[in-house]
Amino acid sequence: MTGLGFLSVVAAEAGGESLARTLLTQGTYLAAGVFFILGLKSLTHPDSARKGMQQAAIGMLLAIIGTLIVEQIVEYQWIIGGLMLGTAIGYPLGTRVPMTAMPQRIAVSHMFGALAASLVGIAEYLHRTADGGTIPRAQMAALGFEVLFGSLTVTGSFMAFGKLQEFLPGRPVTYTGQNAVNIGAFIATVGLWAYLIVDPTAAWAFWAMTASAFVIGISLVLPIGGADMPVVVSLLNSYAGLAASATGFAIGNTVLIIAGALDGASGFILSIIMSKAMNRSFGNVIFGAFGTPPESSAKSNVGLTVKSITAEDAAIQLAYASKVIVVPGYGMAVAQAQHTVRELAELIEKKGGVVKYAIHPVAGRMPGHMNVLLAEANVPYERLYDMEEINAEFPTADVALVIGANDVVNPAAKHDKGSPIYGMPILEVDQAKSIIVMKRSMNAGFAGIENELFYDAKTSMLFGDAKTSLMKLVSEVKTL
Ligand code: TAP
Repeated sequence: MTGLGFLSVVAAEAGGESLARTLLTQGTYLAAGVFFILGLKSLTHPDSARKGMQQAAIGMLLAIIGTLIVEQIVEYQWIIGGLMLGTAIGYPLGTRVPMTAMPQRIAVSHMFGALAASLVGIAEYLHRTADGGTIPRAQMAALGFEVLFGSLTVTGSFMAFGKLQEFLPGRPVTYTGQNAVNIGAFIATVGLWAYLIVDPTAAWAFWAMTASAFVIGISLVLPIGGADMPVVVSLLNSYAGLAASATGFAIGNTVLIIAGALDGASGFILSIIMSKAMNRSFGNVIFGAFGTPPESSAKSNVGLTVKSITAEDAAIQLAYASKVIVVPGYGMAVAQAQHTVRELAELIEKKGGVVKYAIHPVAGRMPGHMNVLLAEANVPYERLYDMEEINAEFPTADVALVIGANDVVNPAAKHDKGSPIYGMPILEVDQAKSIIVMKRSMNAGFAGIENELFYDAKTSMLFGDAKTSLMKLVSEVKTL
């Protein structure tokens, strides 16, 4: 007999069915919490990331089971309907959305999660204050926090979704004094929350706070765009977690407190890690003020020429190189070229060259995107190097092979103060002895800006879909 089963039997004998149910629920919640923590731990390494997702899914299943046996549930038809609707939406989202659209998908998930937290908070408020009732102050604090953060995350996530899906303008929308307005509005909303704690029956303050939080969500994400979007998505993740945790306090649900706190803390840590990678300050992360309007860049590429190369010539360079650094980016994910990259790398190694992979923290469209794809293609993890480790090695590389990367190798980030990516650390590909860039056209990357690397005298452009070009390279290198 399992520990949980044993506990419930003891309780059933000692204190009746009610206590048994409570013990079973709490025990299941505890087990769910353990699985969530194990899942997060496993997610810290690409090798165990898949296992981490499975552990987290088991945790979620236990949390749902634990909740279904809660005694206060009087009827199940709405819950079963909700579970079926959730599955009908969640399953296609999980299986059909391509990896390249992950940030938008995650933004939508945060929106739904935060919407659930806000609605629970609003329903709880209406229920408790109906017929002149009131709410204890401590509970009002949690409930107000839940609705405040939940509501601003709903609209903020929707804005992020719209920008990433490109049905809203992706560039930062800014105006003079924006930060002062945003911070002022936030302080006023927190003031309404404080007022509610003093007087929980002040319905006007509750609705004003909720409406204001919805507007803040929009204004928070408005000034953010381009390469900064990953940071804001992870910050919204953190807000959604905090709102869920507060929901747990407001309605007395342990697993929501645990899961929300883990989600909030891990999202916050990820935001800090990513903002560091983007060279943004901590203050910028908190206030979402990274949308300083870019001065128009003085750089122009008029008159500069681009050198294109054939697969045959590129193959010769690669086959006889003693050191090749592969720089994967979003285009590798689009082309699903990771397996062919590994095949090419193995051929180069057979010919005596050393191949290393340079991983930029925001290459692709989600944290760890390149690591996940390369791990899927069985590229040995020790060949993957973080930006800080590999940058010093570019001057000794015979060839830097850029596969569908653009913003993360743009030297403008280092010296062009007018560039929207100015200050973001980059992979210093321009330091390599020669550079081969694989992409389909001269189109810009995510940040929508020109890349002077493509016009560098050392750079050769191998135009075409990354997978098709890599397959040609593989067959050419085999003949050499
Ligand atoms: P990007 O700057 O987005 O550039 C990708 C390049 O891949 C494009 O210029 C595109 O050029 C090329 N490409 C697309 N499909 C291709 C295909 N089938 N074959 C070959 N090339 C193809 O990518 P990056 O350098 O990886 O930088 C990532 C950007 O996304 C950063 O600005 C980052 O801030 C942002 N972002 C990152 C994340 C995270 S967390 N990683 C999340 C959201 C946004 P062509 O069209 O000419 O082929």
